[in-house]
Amino acid sequence: MNDWYSACAEAAQQIRDSIPDYYRSRSFPGILGDIKALPPKKALSLFTRKKGLGKQYAYLYLTSGIDNGMGYQACAAEALKYTHGTGIIHGNLLDVGCAVGVTAGVFGIEKATGFDLFPDLLKAAKLTDAITGAHHHYTVADMTQPWPFQCRFDTVFCGLVCHHLKNQSDIRTFFNNANRVMDSGGTLVITLPSGAIATVSQLTQLSDALECFGFRIESRLTGMVVSTDSPVSLFWMFVIIARKISDKTGYDFVHPGFGFQDFRTPVTREEKGAKARVTATKKRQVKHAQFSMITIQDMKEKCSEAPLVYDTIHRCFQQH
Ligand SMILES: C[S@@+](CC[C@H](N)C(=O)[O-])C[C@H]1O[C@@H](n2cnc3c(N)ncnc32)[C@H](O)[C@@H]1O
Repeated sequence: MNDWYSACAEAAQQIRDSIPDYYRSRSFPGILGDIKALPPKKALSLFTRKKGLGKQYAYLYLTSGIDNGMGYQACAAEALKYTHGTGIIHGNLLDVGCAVGVTAGVFGIEKATGFDLFPDLLKAAKLTDAITGAHHHYTVADMTQPWPFQCRFDTVFCGLVCHHLKNQSDIRTFFNNANRVMDSGGTLVITLPSGAIATVSQLTQLSDALECFGFRIESRLTGMVVSTDSPVSLFWMFVIIARKISDKTGYDFVHPGFGFQDFRTPVTREEKGAKARVTATKKRQVKHAQFSMITIQDMKEKCSEAPLVYDTIHRCFQQH
């Protein structure tokens, strides 16, 4: 466990006593589900009205969300570090939807800027920094509005956040904002959880759309990251890496179907894949330690248009 994970555990204990009894039974998937179901302004207003809910969210993030690297959020950053190397994040980093400072924490970055919609998450991030001695800068902001930064960043990281955006116009705002705060040559990193992308074409449409906003996709680094150490608890996520090549954006050419307007967390057996249902109930005891990258080109050949659920990924991975 690195210092950041133990600092998260310590910060969680500090927050625990201040959570009103009423919200203590709220679960992590339940709170995330509420956030995903609402537009950003409404989600923020819900947390403003329900005082104390944000504390439970922050507490759950530091415990279940991170879970010493076994939780999905931390595992995703670990997976990216494993397959793409720490060099993928270079220079001045902006972490979009940083939650409790997950990217900087898992990658061991000394100084980063992060923003999130929910102030309680950022308070938890600051509490964790006070324990580790890190000096990150956090701001409350909505990624679907103009971003409050005048400076330029070398890396813009958006980990497991984009699928929250239901309106295409919000995704366009995100791409435009990302372009505006970066210098040419800068890197945009987007990760998406399993379930966020239904087919390879959907991933292709999203990558193609990004190319209309002054970015060029790094096709060798874009595709799917899959765990290789435990087929019993297979982990996978999607990753898009793009280089900024121009200030010019011209989204008139974007495919009209790109985005996450149909996204909702998979619930039925068919949506998740048969095997996932069996394994999801078992709590993982060990951290995933090894991952493999399947490029978007390989995905096109191996997965074709099959729904990207456990069974497809497992088969695709075995052929890899
Ligand atoms: C699933 S979490 C991922 C957090 C973190 N990036 C990680 O890798 O673990 C999604 C994050 O996006 C934030 N978020 C959702 N909508 C947002 C918005 N419109 N603007 C800023 N942050 C947002 C949530 O508060 C949450 O922290």
